[in-house]
Amino acid sequence: MGCHGGFALDEATRRSWYTPESILQELNSGMVFADIGCGDGFFTILAAKKVGEQGKVYAVDVDPAAIQRLKNKAKAEGLNNITAKVGMGEETVFCNKCVDVVFYSMVLHDFADTSKVLKNAKQMVKADGQLIDLDWKKQEMPFGPPFKIRFSEEQASNLIKNAGFQIDNVTFVGNYHYTITGKSFG
Ligand SMILES: C[S@@+](CC[C@H](N)C(=O)[O-])C[C@H]1O[C@@H](n2cnc3c(N)ncnc32)[C@H](O)[C@@H]1O
Repeated sequence: MGCHGGFALDEATRRSWYTPESILQELNSGMVFADIGCGDGFFTILAAKKVGEQGKVYAVDVDPAAIQRLKNKAKAEGLNNITAKVGMGEETVFCNKCVDVVFYSMVLHDFADTSKVLKNAKQMVKADGQLIDLDWKKQEMPFGPPFKIRFSEEQASNLIKNAGFQIDNVTFVGNYHYTITGKSFG
């Protein structure tokens, strides 16, 4: 819970910032989704409900307690389509060319080696697959990660492009965040 710059993140707070469902609006039944740096799995659970039993959700986080909380939530909700593991995004490729959407929520700036994490995304994503990056605007705010570690939309877009994705869309989401969507090609 302390991963947002010491700001306790409950669902109501998150929903005051953005509508999570609209961030996953392109996710449909039967799709495969990978949530990298998933934390407690707020988006993992939403995605698992959207892709349904015909779909599949992969999730990874370096924090074992967060993964355990995610597993508990999935069990409580009766969701059987999630594979969650403890690990580093830098070391995780769940499968080759098998994922429709690789997702990062408020985490891209946290990785020790973001380029390696994105290279792994390129390996996982299908030829026509997508990357979605939700992150904090690079502005001073009374909460969230420190200004100096935040990625501007331009910085994040360049990293995503360098990993072999084409930038489709950059959108401001509420007052504090942006999303970048990238398409894999080839
Ligand atoms: C700000 S939280 C965001 C969690 C989640 N995506 C969300 O929206 O609530 C960042 C998460 O990234 C995880 N993390 C940091 N570095 C990581 C790494 N190298 N590999 C995997 N997870 C990492 C942290 O443990 C933490 O759970």
